[in-house]
Amino acid sequence: MSAKIIHVSEDTEVAIREAKAVLSRGLPVAIPTETVYGLAADATQPLAITRIYETKGRPRFNPLICHMADLAMAERYAVIDPVSWQLAEHFWPGPLTLILPLKPDCGIHSLATAGLATVGLRVPKGWSSALIRAYGRPLAAPSANTSGKVSPTSAQHVAEDLGEKLELIIDGDAAPVGVESTIVRVEGDGIHLLRPGGVSAEDLEAATGLPVIRMSSPSPTIEAPGMLASHYAPSASVRLNAHEASAGEAVLCFGDVSVAGLDQAALVLNLSPSADLREAAANLFDYLKKADAAAVTGIAVVPIPHDGLGEAINDRLSRAAAPRT
Ligand code: TXA
Ligand code: MG
Repeated sequence: MSAKIIHVSEDTEVAIREAKAVLSRGLPVAIPTETVYGLAADATQPLAITRIYETKGRPRFNPLICHMADLAMAERYAVIDPVSWQLAEHFWPGPLTLILPLKPDCGIHSLATAGLATVGLRVPKGWSSALIRAYGRPLAAPSANTSGKVSPTSAQHVAEDLGEKLELIIDGDAAPVGVESTIVRVEGDGIHLLRPGGVSAEDLEAATGLPVIRMSSPSPTIEAPGMLASHYAPSASVRLNAHEASAGEAVLCFGDVSVAGLDQAALVLNLSPSADLREAAANLFDYLKKADAAAVTGIAVVPIPHDGLGEAINDRLSRAAAPRT
């Protein structure tokens, strides 16, 4: 089997009809979202969810984000406190996932939440929320990649990794944000940041006036998403804060940060020549994959500023660089 690819702009209605048909049969479909491509299946059907875990080779203790068409739909499945409500109104549709108490008997299957009493909800931007509205049920969707690998930001990435295991990939062009959603849980003392992502901590604070609290160490329960130290990993080894290139390496530059010995590098890619962190986030996973495809001896990355989307970029890079287990 090799996946059929339908481009959303060719015919949005056809793409929705075909995706609905596959979802109704309990099978996953790869869908474009503004962050990364998702491997979506009906969050109410246990067999469909099982197929997500199998297709990705994902550990089943790691819960999935459930995607909603809008805030009204989200309210049917979770208890939304006032601050989470404010965040949802401000950032949805968009790259923010809220961890919320699950409403009992709401229909989301416990396989999607890995048995937790909470659920991660997000309303994605664009075509995928139209699909969810048309389908009428929440879609559980992790990133559409083999577990532990770099997340896909194009339909081509999905096809290369999972094309043989899927029936249908919906192509919505390059994912504009390029890193996964920010995951937060609202507590009495502020907004707990479980995973930095497409909404910056500064923007969360500005929208609510509340402090963003970073986790000092991963908690023993599944609070910490993407959380295994080694994750988002290309095949080549990755080294960070590089100021010089070694022979045969790929070098990921940023702005005009200077790198010695660039002429020895096998490949040089600039995440953002104008030093724009949004552009760098959008290019990050694609460039890691390009470096891998070029069979380089390793990937060297220059220092990336830590503000705004830089926090999410540095989070993914440090996992890509972590010792492999
Ligand atoms: O941008 C995104 O978030 C993408 C697109 C497809 O929406 N999805 C994504 O899913 O990144 P995934 O499965 O790769 O990451 C979801 C993370 C998991 O690491 C999981 O630990 C965390 O969300 N998560 C889900 N439900 C949770 C819960 N109830 N409590 C704590 N963490 C949760
Ligand atoms: Mg993922």
